Amino acid sequence: MAKINDNYLKLKAGYLFPEIARRVNVFAEANPEAKIIRLGIGDVTEPLPEACRTAMIHAVEEMGDRATFKGYGPEQGYAWLREKIASHDFQSRGCDIDASEIFISDGSKCDTGNILDIFGKDNRIAVTDPVYPVYVDTNVMAGHTGEANEKGEYGGLVYLPVTAENNFTAEIPTQKVDLIYLCFPNNPTGATATREHLQAWVNYAKANNSIIFFDAAYEAYITDPDLPHSIYEIEGARDCAIEFRSFSKNAGFTGTRCALTVVPKTLKAKAADGSDVELWKLWNRRQSTKFNGVSYIVQRGAEAIYSEAGKSQIDALVNFYLENAKIIRTQLTAAGIEVYGGVNAPYVWVKTPHGLSSWDFFDKLLQVCNVVGTPGSGFGAAGEGYFRISAFNSRENVEEAMKRIVEKFKV
Ligand code: MLT
Repeated sequence: MAKINDNYLKLKAGYLFPEIARRVNVFAEANPEAKIIRLGIGDVTEPLPEACRTAMIHAVEEMGDRATFKGYGPEQGYAWLREKIASHDFQSRGCDIDASEIFISDGSKCDTGNILDIFGKDNRIAVTDPVYPVYVDTNVMAGHTGEANEKGEYGGLVYLPVTAENNFTAEIPTQKVDLIYLCFPNNPTGATATREHLQAWVNYAKANNSIIFFDAAYEAYITDPDLPHSIYEIEGARDCAIEFRSFSKNAGFTGTRCALTVVPKTLKAKAADGSDVELWKLWNRRQSTKFNGVSYIVQRGAEAIYSEAGKSQIDALVNFYLENAKIIRTQLTAAGIEVYGGVNAPYVWVKTPHGLSSWDFFDKLLQVCNVVGTPGSGFGAAGEGYFRISAFNSRENVEEAMKRIVEKFKV
């Protein structure tokens, strides 16, 4: 009989967001009249920018004409998109990143999991706690961990607690780790990293020959000019970091799918025989074998983000969600509820009121206010007692949700 990958049996229950959806569906079926407002999953609600739509419509027309029709594109993405990204997102900020180091993909969630294909099994891996669950679950699936304990912590992973005491930015470990996941602006806490903090991580990684997986999916939400948008703004990062980015949260591509991963050609890791191997070559080999690229139409849509019209349209989108975040912060703070994040980030990290556990608050909020958020404990043991509220929704829904929460949970 065929055998399964037993590592999947180590995974805790369902992936967080489907589990939330399951609970919400049960509630909705039992309460069909309830007007549920979903501020749980960080999924965008506002329509695609006009510049992207126009470019995609044009690309569809090109696909309908034999003279301009496109079959398979380059597995790494079209050069015209990679060049625009290199110049607008990296070189303009002083980052020494070449277009050939940028790989276009269908999502940074996928890539943060897929990247493990090119790494061995004996790495010591550090994640923050709380953390975006994909980093942990993909390591469990790949057999990089032991079993989970009763708190949901997997054997073999190094957990770096992020709490209000350390401003939700992890302390640099005193022990040696080989792979480190960092996410700034952070999902779920909405925390940001200063240049000094990232420099400390780069210094650590270089001193320990570690690789940083830097998830910058929310970089567009940074409005503070002093905060770095890319790890490559930090000296030395080319030698120790892979960066993941996405068009999901700036241009509303969650359903359209387009993202990118940067693997500098200077980045190396060890083979079993002790030799140094360029990670770019391995990732290029992996993508060429397992991936056929993002559709031409979608890449043309992504390219339009870098036009003058596209830039101002995505700025407007990001500012819209940032204003939602501000409303959430202001209203909850005024109601005596402790909040973090939500500035330079689309997530507000809320201390659950009245000492409720994360899931108890989730259930109460759903039942009493018909509002959905994400329990902090779903992101890790140190998230217990916290709750994430996403700013991705219409203004009307955000205002209505805050009104309901403040009314029922004022401290
Ligand atoms: C989240 O809610 O954390 C998001 O859905 C993350 C993602 O984009 O996968």
